[in-house]
Amino acid sequence: MPSTQTQIADFTFDNCLMNAAGVACMTIGELEEVKHSAAGTFVTKTATLEARAGNPEPRYHNVPLGSINSMGLPNQGLNYYLDYLLDLQEKEPNRTFFLSLVGMSPDETHQILHQVEESDFKGLIELNLSCPNVPGKPQIAYDFDTTEQLLRQVFSYFTKPLGIKLPPYFDIVHFDQAAEIFNQFPLRFVNCVNSVGNGLYIEDEKVVIKPKNGFGGIGGEYIKPTALANVHAFYQRLKPEIQIIGTGGVLTGRDAFEHILCGASMVQVGTTLQKEGVAAFERITKELQAIMAEKGYERLEDFRGKLQYLN
Ligand code: SIN
Repeated sequence: MPSTQTQIADFTFDNCLMNAAGVACMTIGELEEVKHSAAGTFVTKTATLEARAGNPEPRYHNVPLGSINSMGLPNQGLNYYLDYLLDLQEKEPNRTFFLSLVGMSPDETHQILHQVEESDFKGLIELNLSCPNVPGKPQIAYDFDTTEQLLRQVFSYFTKPLGIKLPPYFDIVHFDQAAEIFNQFPLRFVNCVNSVGNGLYIEDEKVVIKPKNGFGGIGGEYIKPTALANVHAFYQRLKPEIQIIGTGGVLTGRDAFEHILCGASMVQVGTTLQKEGVAAFERITKELQAIMAEKGYERLEDFRGKLQYLN
C-alpha cells in the first residue's frame, strides 16, 4: 500500500490529510473526532486572545458546488486551545498538532504570540493572515507593507515553528511580491488558500447568509483551480525551507493528488469535511492511495511538485 506519510518542519505525520481551520475544530469534542479519524493531525479554529461569538447566524451555507461563510472568527479564546494542546502533548508526545491564531489588532497578535512563545507548546503555529469575514478588518495578507512589517516584528522574538494561512492571489505580480516578502523570514510553511473572499450566493432572489448582506468566503469545488495555482506559484517561488500546505476544493483523492503534484506537503479538507464528516479522511486517503498505486508511486516524494508543463 503506498504511504501517505509526510513531514512539515521536521515533524512527521502518518497521513498528509487534515482539517482546514474553521471546520470541525471549534471545540475539544470536534478536535478529538478529527484526532481519532484517519487524518494525520488537526488544526484548531483560529484563536483570538478572548473568546468571540462571531457574526450573526445564518453565517454558513452549503451550496451544490461548495460553501459560503461569514463566520467572523467565532472561537473559544486562546487559552482554551492552548491548554488542550498542552494537555495533549503530555498524553500523546509522539503526535504534533497545529494551533491557528490571529489577533484582532497587531498588538493582540503579538500578545498571543508572546504567550505561545513563553508556553511549553511544541507543535506548529499557523498565523491566519486571511480571514475575509470580520466587518471593518481587511485581509492582512492583501496588504504587503503591513504583512512585511508584522512578520518582521514577529520574527524579532518568535522562535517556534510558524507558518501563515494565505488568501488566494490572482495576479502573477502578486505571487512575485508576496514570495519576495515571505522568503525574507524563517517561515516553516505557507497554507494556500483560505476561502475566496466576499462572494455572493443567491437563492430565491435572496442572499443565503446574514452577515455583510450575504457576502462571504467561498469554499469547495468552485475554488480548486485557484487553490492549485496558489500552491504551485508559491512552490515555484519560495525557498525550500518554506513548505506548502494545500487547501481548497479537495473532494476526492484526485484533488489531494493534484495539490501534492503542485507542491503541497500536506493537504487540508474544509467544505468536504463540513458536508461529509470525518469519514471523508479515510475515503480520500484510500482514493489517493489507489491513484498512487496505479501510477507506481510509493510515497508522496515520488510526485510532489512534479507537475508537467506543455512544451
Ligand atoms: C471565519 O471565522 O470567518 C472564517 C475564518 C477564516 O476564513 O479565516
